[in-house]
Amino acid sequence: MSFVNAGVDAMASSLSEEFAVPAHVEEVRRVMAAFAEQHGAAGRMVVLITSGGTKVPLESRTVRFLDNFSSGRRGASSAEYFLAQGYAVIFLHRQRSLYPYTRLYTGVNLLDCLTLHPVHEGSGLVAVDQTKLPNITDVLKRYQAVKSGGLLLPVEFSTLSEYLHLLKAAAQALSSLGSKAMFYLAAAVSDFYIPPSEMPEHKIQSSNGPLQISMKMVPKILKPLVKDWAPKAFVISFKLETDPSILLERARCALDIYKHQVVVANVLDTRHGYVVIVTKDSQKELVLTEEEVQRDVEIEEKIVKNLSHAHTQFVNQKG
Ligand code: PMT
Repeated sequence: MSFVNAGVDAMASSLSEEFAVPAHVEEVRRVMAAFAEQHGAAGRMVVLITSGGTKVPLESRTVRFLDNFSSGRRGASSAEYFLAQGYAVIFLHRQRSLYPYTRLYTGVNLLDCLTLHPVHEGSGLVAVDQTKLPNITDVLKRYQAVKSGGLLLPVEFSTLSEYLHLLKAAAQALSSLGSKAMFYLAAAVSDFYIPPSEMPEHKIQSSNGPLQISMKMVPKILKPLVKDWAPKAFVISFKLETDPSILLERARCALDIYKHQVVVANVLDTRHGYVVIVTKDSQKELVLTEEEVQRDVEIEEKIVKNLSHAHTQFVNQKG
């Protein structure tokens, strides 16, 4: 079965056939729906952020897989800025990719920040060296406020199949919020996969010679998301290119095809300092100045400010 040019209906029916349904998807859907209901009732907007890259197995008993590049920094930092703007956040992220707040200490060896002061034999007090964890008091305060308010719901994916099913479940769970739900699709999602019927069960043997694989096209999940699963929501996709000369044309093309609200266009090498926010009838460059870079300002702060403002206008228009 080919997914090239597959329509939305084909996508909906083939999702479960072609991509294994994770065992916990119903349970996660219930948790996400309860989260949406609780925060919706409290008058909060809810954003679903996707973050990190999907993994596509090459064997059923997986030793090797194809990965999409994404550190998760965009998604994790954006989550913090959305929380600061008063949103409740569902953080659908690749297992072990960057996570809100803890991302600030990536590369720090926790054990190097702690000193043990023995009290009795076998027990002791542990002291934290705050010079090794910059701004830890402020970060911890923000993290604990988010935690005690139940404002951040983490959901993990690893494979492409998990991502697709969990995104669909999230869209269904947020449907009660209508225009107050935002989808911020920063994850890097594979365009290729091997269907279960064509996947070898065991580890591919190098003794069989050079590896040749044929992969099928993954249907663009944005299509059913915008048309069927979350038709009232405010949907933002990201467009990543390595060639800057085709970036804006590709972003406009995505808006034409999927008819969602915003594309955030970025180029791999400059993504931390420059993006373009593209809508049907506007395009706005967001740039970090040298002075802002010196002050550790992050481009995600500007992206989130811009988009939360646009979302409020969208809600006011749609009601
Ligand atoms: O995590 P970082 O290291 O900070 O990097 C951030 C980022 C570069 C990964 C991020 O800013 C970004 O650009 N994410 C989108 C990358 C991507 O997959 O682009 P794309 O052109 O392949 O896909 C465009 C859109 O279509 C995406 O929003 C994706 O969710 C969607 N898509 C993709 C594949 C697919 N099968 N279905 C989809 O709906």
